[in-house]
Amino acid sequence: MTERLDPMVGDNLELAGSALSDHDFRLITRIALDEAGLAIPQTKKALVQSRLSRRLRALGIGEFAEYIALVSLPENREERRELVSVLTTNVSSFFRERHHFDHFSQTVWPRIAAKLGNRTAPARIWSAGCSSGQEPYSIAMECLRAMPDAASRDLLILASDIDPVILQRAAEGRYTQAEVSGIPERDLRTHFTPAPDKTSYSANDTLRRLVRFRELNLHSAWPMRGQFEAIFCRNVLIYFDEDHQRRLWPRFHDALVPGGFLFLGHSERIHPLEGSGFTSAGVTIYRKS
Ligand SMILES: C[S@@+](CC[C@H](N)C(=O)[O-])C[C@H]1O[C@@H](n2cnc3c(N)ncnc32)[C@H](O)[C@@H]1O
Repeated sequence: MTERLDPMVGDNLELAGSALSDHDFRLITRIALDEAGLAIPQTKKALVQSRLSRRLRALGIGEFAEYIALVSLPENREERRELVSVLTTNVSSFFRERHHFDHFSQTVWPRIAAKLGNRTAPARIWSAGCSSGQEPYSIAMECLRAMPDAASRDLLILASDIDPVILQRAAEGRYTQAEVSGIPERDLRTHFTPAPDKTSYSANDTLRRLVRFRELNLHSAWPMRGQFEAIFCRNVLIYFDEDHQRRLWPRFHDALVPGGFLFLGHSERIHPLEGSGFTSAGVTIYRKS
């Protein structure tokens, strides 16, 4: 994982226990790949070691080998979830990559509004890899700006992530002052309630009613029925190896309505585009053809 395993994030590299050997690092990265499709390069070894050390301390385990034996037990799915949570990056922000939201308002929203206006069909949007919730709440704000009673229509934003810890935070919908700084003043006033000391802001019910949070590993089966008008899967695929990325393109294609849109992160591209069933519709925006 690059973002969360980036030295800029401020991990403390001091260790209480033993060093992580190359052999143990390979075993850990194998589990991360099998469980979540995560490709962790050797250059991230020190950060993996730092993060795992914290987990070992929390469990009262002294050796990485002991932890690996524990996490590898077939019945120990819970600890594998913990491990993935430790290794993933959750960096996010409101209205990240603003041009996607402009495109959404101008191009995707009119299609959704037509459906909702005629009350002929439900409209669904998916934030896949939603982290702490800024992405789905930003989409919800965009919808509510265009249609203030959207929450009482048949519109839903599915917000999913593999990490149950971060999903819990997303569902709580409480953000620091720094985190809400990316929200336009009018939307902040309308959709969030400040704590009395203004150090945090909580999402209001209208916003929350539009979003449903679910734990979902993108590499497992997707239980959703129906198709999405738009899928936001941004800054998630960069952490997967090519093989896992390639397997997702046809699945996203199937999950979209004809003419639906897929939004990727700034450094992500559908590759190969030819034969994928998508055409380019803007910078890191793809349309199901
Ligand atoms: C950097 S955040 C991106 C958040 C948001 N999409 C954005 O662009 O601001 C990446 C998220 O992908 C999630 N993730 C990583 N592997 C995943 C997988 N296999 N299935 C679902 N989510 C995954 C992580 O838990 C993390 O919350």
